[in-house]
Amino acid sequence: MKKPLFALLTLAFAAPLLAQEVTYTKDIRPLWEEHCERCHGAKSPTYEDFAKSKASAAGASDDSDGPRMDSYERMMYHLTGPRSGALMRMLDDGSNTADRHPGGMFRHLGRRAERKGNLDLFKRWIGEGAWVVKEPGQLSQEEVQKIKAAK
Ligand code: HEC
Repeated sequence: MKKPLFALLTLAFAAPLLAQEVTYTKDIRPLWEEHCERCHGAKSPTYEDFAKSKASAAGASDDSDGPRMDSYERMMYHLTGPRSGALMRMLDDGSNTADRHPGGMFRHLGRRAERKGNLDLFKRWIGEGAWVVKEPGQLSQEEVQKIKAAK
């Protein structure tokens, strides 16, 4: 009977700490594995190859092959790197897009009831006041610097 009580106490003390910092390893990676990996995993093409095949006539891919995003660094490529802001543009629920339509990946954030919560997790990871919706690659230096996105 000691163990469950100990576990509960540990949780009670750890919970406020856990609520503070959202990290890639602890929070985003598991979410990504559940909802994004099947289209952005190790078998998917790198963004460079993806862009090439999309531009070619043969590139009319089905819905399953997005650019590979299976590491922290590869995800950051679409957040603070050459495709800065793409992640926010694609995940936004429509409250920040010009036409009020959600970005193309919002619907992949889980079942309807889960999406808001999962989006909030991404927002907390990126950090207070850092969520902006712009075309990929268009973030300013200041906007990039505001992004926390802890590993
Ligand atoms: C059913 C397959 C599928 C799932 C699931 C999926 N994606 Fe995608 N994703 C795509 C495809 C295909 C594209 C390319 C769209 C295009 O460029 O027209 C894409 C593009 C993106 C881009 C834009 C990259 C860029 O720089 O242009 C981001 C960011 C992204 N996805 C993130 C996610 C995240 C995060 C998840 C999980 C919540 C997710 N995707 C789930 C298929 C998927």
